[in-house]
Order: sequence, then structure tokens, then C-alpha cells
Amino acid sequence: MKNQRVGILTGGGDCPGLNAVIRAVVRRAHVSEVEIVGFKNGWLGLVEDDVEPLNRDSVSGILPRGGTILGTSRFNPAGDAVSLNKLAENWKKYSLSSLIVVGGEGTLSAALEMWRSHHYPLVCVPKTIDNDIRGTDMTFGFDTAVQIVTEAIDRLHSTAESHHRVMVVEVMGRHTGWIAAYGGIAGGADVVLVPEHPFKLSHVCERLKRRMDQGRAFSIIVVAEDAHPHPDEDFLTLEVRESIYRHDRLGGIGTVLAEEIERCTGIETRVTKLGYVQRGGTPTPFDRVLATRFGVKAMEMTEAGEWGRMVSLQGNRIMSVPLEEAVGELKTLSEEIYGVAELFFG
Ligand code: F6P
Repeated sequence: MKNQRVGILTGGGDCPGLNAVIRAVVRRAHVSEVEIVGFKNGWLGLVEDDVEPLNRDSVSGILPRGGTILGTSRFNPAGDAVSLNKLAENWKKYSLSSLIVVGGEGTLSAALEMWRSHHYPLVCVPKTIDNDIRGTDMTFGFDTAVQIVTEAIDRLHSTAESHHRVMVVEVMGRHTGWIAAYGGIAGGADVVLVPEHPFKLSHVCERLKRRMDQGRAFSIIVVAEDAHPHPDEDFLTLEVRESIYRHDRLGGIGTVLAEEIERCTGIETRVTKLGYVQRGGTPTPFDRVLATRFGVKAMEMTEAGEWGRMVSLQGNRIMSVPLEEAVGELKTLSEEIYGVAELFFG
């Protein structure tokens, strides 16, 4: 590997821990005297020749920083002949021996295509606050998001209790309920609504009224951004539905749900949409360690020529799995975790 040059890029939505991966890759590469170049804004940097050499100095101090020093985008070159040609030119220009791709579902799918159809030697590192990537027990960023949700619920408890209100907390997670379920369990939510289990408004309202009858004058509901009402009790108009579940951007179910709850229970209800604070800012220690271990492993896989594979957490071990195992289908919320959250409903 000595004197070789390896590229790295970060694609998709940003996520706490990305800088820890970059730092770990550079530090591990230094040991083997491998040069690392960073491509800016995901695949776009490789296509547009937007490059930054990375060394010990340039990654110094980035471990606790959120976001990614390389920038990110959702650009996907696979399937676009012009982009593919430019990418090939730049690959040659920098004499890359391989590429480390750090990304979520979209970025990893593009990587699989680049490996399978175009034979670029690459290894991948999964990242997302949503924890929805198969082939790994957990992604970094998720723990940080859950911590932020938990802190928010803790704070919302006291104001909900003081005003005898229902508080609806809308969280991210895309098409899965991992953040909602973990945040709900950790924060002691009274109801957690996730995409994997379409909900009936009547059931939610019954639970809230029962709590009231038992003298519990406030409630916390965590709703995942892609949670859907059950078809039997769908209260969303087509227009509202289209504005909440947009292909490229989810969000808004919490507001509509809060209005419906107030209407059916008569209890004053407020909504808090946590939004992008869930993925901004400094990573938790857990995410820093996981991201660092992933970065080191990615560099080791690069040295071993384990192409078309992804680093993965299995139990507490860092392993590698074929990329095919990770893309195509999302890792939905485990029934065991949902069962634990459900035990505390109402
Ligand atoms: O995948 C991470 C995530 O934050 C999702 O939870 C959310 O639905 C989405 O990204 C938002 O993406 P964007 O940055 O494009 O608005």
C-alpha cells in the first residue's frame, strides 16, 4: 500500500460522526504511508474534480465536530454517462488505488453500482441517524439522535405536566421507527407511533383519556415522521397526505395529529417538531468510538483489497459484509424493540 493514494467521500444527509470516520481513515493510512485525498460533496467532488488533500494536520481537532469537513450531497453518478466519464478521468488524474465511500442507503446503492458495473475498487462505511441500513447492528449518528430526542422529551415532560397538556413530538427516521422507538423508550413516552405499525386515532385517544381518568393529566406522544394512520381510520385528506409524505421530504404528521387529538379528546395539545437538531452538532462518545472503529476497519479492508464490501457492527465486533447485504431493503424497527415501547403505552 505504501505510496498509494486512496480517495474518501461522504454522501447523503450529514450525520454526527462523519468527521470521526475521516480522521480515523487518515490516521490509519498514515501508519501505512498511504496518501488520502478527500472528494468534496459526495460523488459530485469526484465528478467535478473538487478535491482536498487530507493529512494529520487537516484532520486535527475534527473528532467532536458535527457535519462533515468534506461537505455532502445526494448526487448519484451511476447511470449518467457524462458524469461517469468525468469520474473516470478524475480517478485517473489522481491515480487512485481505491475509494472509501461513507454514506446512507442512496450513497451505498450508488457505490454498489460503481463496484458491480464499473469495477471501481471501493469499500463502504454506513452512516445515518435513522439506523435503517441492513448488514450492521447499528450506524453511527443514531445514538446522538436518540440522545437529542431523549433530552427534548425530558424537557417537554415538565411543561406538559405544568399545563396538563398532551405533547406530540415529531422525530426523524425516514421510513423506519428506530429513532422514535428508542427515543420514546428512553424518554418514557406514553405512546410511540412508527411507520411499521399504522396507528388508529381512536386507540391513541382512548389511551390518553384513560390516562386522564387515572389522574395523569399530561401525556407525551412520539410520532415518527413517516408514521401513517391505519387505512380503517385514515383522517388525512389527499392534499394533506401529499404534503406530509413527499418523496424527497417527510414531515408534518405531528401537527395534523395534534389537531385531531385535541378534537377527539378535548385535551389541550401542542406539537414540537425536532427536525434537523437531531442530526446537527457534536456526536456522543458512543458514536465517536463507533465511527472511529469503522474508519480504521475501512482502511484495513482497503489494504486487504476487500472490494465491494461494507464495515459493519455485529454485537460489539467490527466486521465486513458484502454491500449487497446492505442495500435494496431497509432495516425496519425490530418487533422486540417495538414490544418494549408498547408495554408503556397509556
Ligand atoms: O436520513 C437522515 C434524515 O435526516 C431523515 O431522518 C430525514 O427524513 C431526511 O434525512 C431529511 O433529509 P434532507 O436533509 O434532504 O431534508
